[in-house]
Amino acid sequence: MVRERAVLLKVKNVGKKFGGIRALSDCSFDIVQGELMGLIGPNGAGKTTVFNLLSGVLKPSSGEIFFNGKNITDYSPARTARAGIARTFQNIRLFGDLSVLDNIKVAFHMRHGTGFFHTVFHSAKFRRTEKEITRQAMKFAEMMDLSDLMNEPAKKLSYGDQRKMEIARALATNPKLLLLDEPAAGMNPQETTDLMATIKQVVADHGMTVLIVEHDMRLVMNLCHRIQVLNQGRVLARGTPEEIRNSPEVIKAYLGSPKEEAHAYS
Ligand SMILES: Nc1ncnc2c1ncn2[C@@H]1O[C@H](COP(=O)(O)OP(=O)(O)O)[C@@H](O)[C@H]1O
Ligand SMILES: [Mg+2]
Repeated sequence: MVRERAVLLKVKNVGKKFGGIRALSDCSFDIVQGELMGLIGPNGAGKTTVFNLLSGVLKPSSGEIFFNGKNITDYSPARTARAGIARTFQNIRLFGDLSVLDNIKVAFHMRHGTGFFHTVFHSAKFRRTEKEITRQAMKFAEMMDLSDLMNEPAKKLSYGDQRKMEIARALATNPKLLLLDEPAAGMNPQETTDLMATIKQVVADHGMTVLIVEHDMRLVMNLCHRIQVLNQGRVLARGTPEEIRNSPEVIKAYLGSPKEEAHAYS
């Protein structure tokens, strides 16, 4: 059913070399509208490189990337963001002294070109749109289950809630595609389970399209509609969780007990 929807992202024969290191080889995949796609593979497989290519931080050595029908291969990070691709980073980036709501508002102002300093110093342009922006920011905080914490300084939040705030901020840029690079890194098991449920909800309720790197195989299998497995810079397998679980290539590459297997991915 997912496959009948419009293709949002098309990665076509993309390769990336760093000097003599081939980080990615002939990588091709599609993501369709409203899809929750997992990206898994061992350390060094090329997952973060894929994210850097999709967000315009790196340029491919070969191949092309199409997004929403446009060739975005040569887009800068800013242009890629404007085109509708938002990402979170493995290391949390937040304004610790600002409230959760203000942290989200910053993203909202970036999207509308009113900028960070206007947000903080309440310029005339800010005041004109403040009500609407606050309303929107509250909506994204609620979406990420942060309603009770909206007025807390970001630095007072638990690690898990800070990560949720980062996602709320990425959502506030109104992306068509959200890239989540190990969003549960450093979270405890309960926080991780809660986050995955929230991400699932955002996709279900708002039709968000998500590409997620997550090393816990059990979570990925539960969460994602489809999964891409990268190994040494190549797509080793792709398919539904069921197909990945039964893929001879995946089984061959990751021999071991199911438990050990789960830890082989990251
Ligand atoms: N900026 C870079 N410069 C040089 N080598 C890099 C760079 N980024 C990634 N690599 C190399 O590319 C390969 C893939 O890395 P990466 O995409 O970070 O893998 P993953 O996220 O799956 O662990 C690794 O061999 C890594 O050392
Ligand atoms: Mg990585």
